[in-house]
Amino acid sequence: MLGPTLLRALRTLRPPALVWAAPVQPVPRSASCRLSLVWRTSPVRSLQLCSGLCAGHNKWSKVKNIKGPKDEARGKMFMKFGMLIRIAVKEGGSNPDLNINLAHLLEQCRSKNMPKASIDAAIKSAEKAKPASQHMFEARGPGGCMLLIEVLTDNNSRTHQEIRRLLNKNGGMLSDGARHNFNRRGVVVVVPAQSVSVETALEMAIEAGAEDVQETEDEEEKLQLKFICAMSDLNKVRGSLEGLGLQITSAGLEFVPRNHSSLDQEQVEAASTLIEALTDCPDVVRVWDNIQADS
Ligand SMILES: *[C@@H]1O[C@H](CO)[C@@H](O)[C@H](O)[C@H]1NC(C)=O
Ligand SMILES: *[C@@H]1O[C@H](CO)[C@@H](O)[C@H](O)[C@H]1NC(C)=O
Repeated sequence: MLGPTLLRALRTLRPPALVWAAPVQPVPRSASCRLSLVWRTSPVRSLQLCSGLCAGHNKWSKVKNIKGPKDEARGKMFMKFGMLIRIAVKEGGSNPDLNINLAHLLEQCRSKNMPKASIDAAIKSAEKAKPASQHMFEARGPGGCMLLIEVLTDNNSRTHQEIRRLLNKNGGMLSDGARHNFNRRGVVVVVPAQSVSVETALEMAIEAGAEDVQETEDEEEKLQLKFICAMSDLNKVRGSLEGLGLQITSAGLEFVPRNHSSLDQEQVEAASTLIEALTDCPDVVRVWDNIQADS
């Protein structure tokens, strides 16, 4: 495995003071805090960019007020989980022991406290749901941000019309090629029990064989670490992180932006309104974006 070898290499390459230095400087909150493991080519430099794991930043933190009550948001989240369960069951059957995607998804549902009865109902109804197909719409939003809109529909032309209408109404448009701004990667999300220094996060990433680690916040503003890896390494990385004693919140495939669109406050609000409108469309499963808030 690559991890331990790289870790040893890193330990020899980095001056010991940098590796084990205890005092971690508080770092200003920054949206662009992305801990790329570029040190694979220049180990010391990238660690000097950030002496402590930068405080996670939720790009929506300033627009939360436009979102509905929490219960309603949870209800919507569970509805989307229901759609994901339906897709997973369609692809791999309803037995999580034989369907790893479903197993990952159920774990995520449980970590978000989705009631067991709702999970069971979603699996049941997935087994006898009408045939539906998955599609991906590529779009551009306020400030030139890129969006990928995943849908599950029994009538693609209806959904296509609806998506186009929502985009037009909210400052967006369909835009072929947006997909190229994203990579499909494995992502393992972990909520650390306590704050973690950049050195520790990087070491965990290397140890586990991940390519990148980012700090973000979940919808309840809890700090979380996202370990990003090749799709085929997902289970290995997940297992290694568990082996390091970390509690896994979710593991699955995601569209990770290759580069970000930097939006000012007004554009972030407009984009948030658009994404809310899209997400409220019953055919929409998920919306991926490459937005970074200027702060
Ligand atoms: C699909 O939706 C379009 C547009 O709303 C509608 O004209 C068409 O009849 C629908 N097709 C089916 C099979 O329901
Ligand atoms: C982002 O990356 C994609 C793929 O490499 C490229 O086509 C696009 O121009 C880039 N966008 C920006 C804003 O750099």
